[in-house]
Amino acid sequence: MTKKKNKNNKKKHLIKRPKKIQVRRENKINNNQFQDNAAPVIVQHKKYLPKSLRGMEDILPEEGKYWDFVLQKAQDLAEDYGFKKIETPVLEERVLFEKSTGMTTEVVEKQMYQFTDRGQNQVALRPEFTPSMVRAYIEHGMFSLSQPIKLFCFGPLFRYERPQSGRLRQFHQINLEVLGSDKPVSDAQVILFCKTFFEVLGIKVSIQINSLGCSECRKVYRSKLINYFKSKRNRLCPDCQKRLIRNPLRILDCKQEGCKDLITDAPQIVDSLCENCHSHFVKVLECLDEAEVAYELNPFLVRGLDYYTRTVFEILPIRTEVVAIKKDSKLEEKKEGENKEPLPADKQVEVAPVIPSMSALGGGGRYDNLVGELSGRETPALGVAFGVERIIEELKYQNIRISKERAPKIFLAQLGELAMRRSLKLLEDLRKEGFRVAENLAKDSLRAQLEMANKIGVKLTLILGQQEMSDKTIIFRDMSSGNQETIDQEKMIKELRKRI
Ligand code: HAM
Repeated sequence: MTKKKNKNNKKKHLIKRPKKIQVRRENKINNNQFQDNAAPVIVQHKKYLPKSLRGMEDILPEEGKYWDFVLQKAQDLAEDYGFKKIETPVLEERVLFEKSTGMTTEVVEKQMYQFTDRGQNQVALRPEFTPSMVRAYIEHGMFSLSQPIKLFCFGPLFRYERPQSGRLRQFHQINLEVLGSDKPVSDAQVILFCKTFFEVLGIKVSIQINSLGCSECRKVYRSKLINYFKSKRNRLCPDCQKRLIRNPLRILDCKQEGCKDLITDAPQIVDSLCENCHSHFVKVLECLDEAEVAYELNPFLVRGLDYYTRTVFEILPIRTEVVAIKKDSKLEEKKEGENKEPLPADKQVEVAPVIPSMSALGGGGRYDNLVGELSGRETPALGVAFGVERIIEELKYQNIRISKERAPKIFLAQLGELAMRRSLKLLEDLRKEGFRVAENLAKDSLRAQLEMANKIGVKLTLILGQQEMSDKTIIFRDMSSGNQETIDQEKMIKELRKRI
């Protein structure tokens, strides 16, 4: 009897469990937790095709020249203007952004990538640089250094937005901050940087500027706005109806047609500025005039981040678009979808400057209270950030030719096992001497290598074969004439310096 019972029990244990549960059980440790390094649960998918996340893009090699061009220009200019490079972590405490960018902003409320890490810390992927710059300024006691502190940085940022042209979930900014100056001339200098930067890139832009005043000015303006929109409440979009209660200034940022119509006649903040803020704004504009920076006053520019005070500005591209096409010697208005070329191909068209909406290449402003709010030490500050992907898109749209990469002028071709191995060291020697040399060591055929050299457009191809290996020589082939010369390897560098 007992024997039979035992047998049945044994059989029960032999019943196969689903694989997933089996693996989990093996990984369980005493305190009911799963081990970090436990073997993963293997769930069989039909076929896994790797792909990047929505709104997060690879930067492919052919894009590299655009990135190098924009970053190099930005870095050179930032250094000229006295900015010092800084890098901060991609991940920060979530509360940093809640307290600086603002709890009621779209960025924090709807777009922040936030999670609890393995140590139960509430963290966020940075959606913008400014809070991290301020955190670093406070944490490293930069108050005690000579003011203002000028910081420059570049890197990826994350916002869970609806991806579309020029709007990504992972994007890159070039960011500049000036901490420790309340002088209007600092505002003008940052805006002058923007003008110069886009001039250097060759992109035509419009600089739009406004003042948001201080908290006192905004209190007055807020009640004027509420009074104005209250009677038109039903004509506002549902989001703006909520904004009317929580943050009426945000209504001015709304892109819905109905709201945009109402905004045109809304009160302007400039009429609510206190004496000090008004005087600051006038001085900024005077400095800009003096520096010959063209700008447009935009009374409804509010920016979407909570920390701004006084000066705010945005940089928008100016595109040249075809508005009419000449047909049978008559100019006819361009129809939808007709002649989609970004620039006119000939004179058979009439063009006009157009500022595309929702396409700011950069934006910034003053944030005189933020450092004080986070550290208790009043420190006026301001800054600007540029969207790198949008700048590159604009370079392409405006057909701007960018200077070529440092292209190789020499190709090293090799023939035979010994020459191929020797080429490794030879390439190193040439690189150390400052020559950029193209090669394809993986190809055996000399013909294929010469074809590649031709395609790259090098001036000279060095050919190393069995014969040259034993003679300690190398062949110089002039790619335009096809003439070949044999040179002693010892004299190679000297000869290259003469010819390249
Ligand atoms: P922002 O206006 O939020 O300002 O962003 C600056 C620029 O980053 C925008 O003008 C745009 O070119 C680019 N950008 C923003 N979001 C995206 C996106 N989802 N995809 C692609 N590009 C985007 C700030 O971030 C402030 N921290 C600027 C600042 C610095 N203010 C003071 N100091």
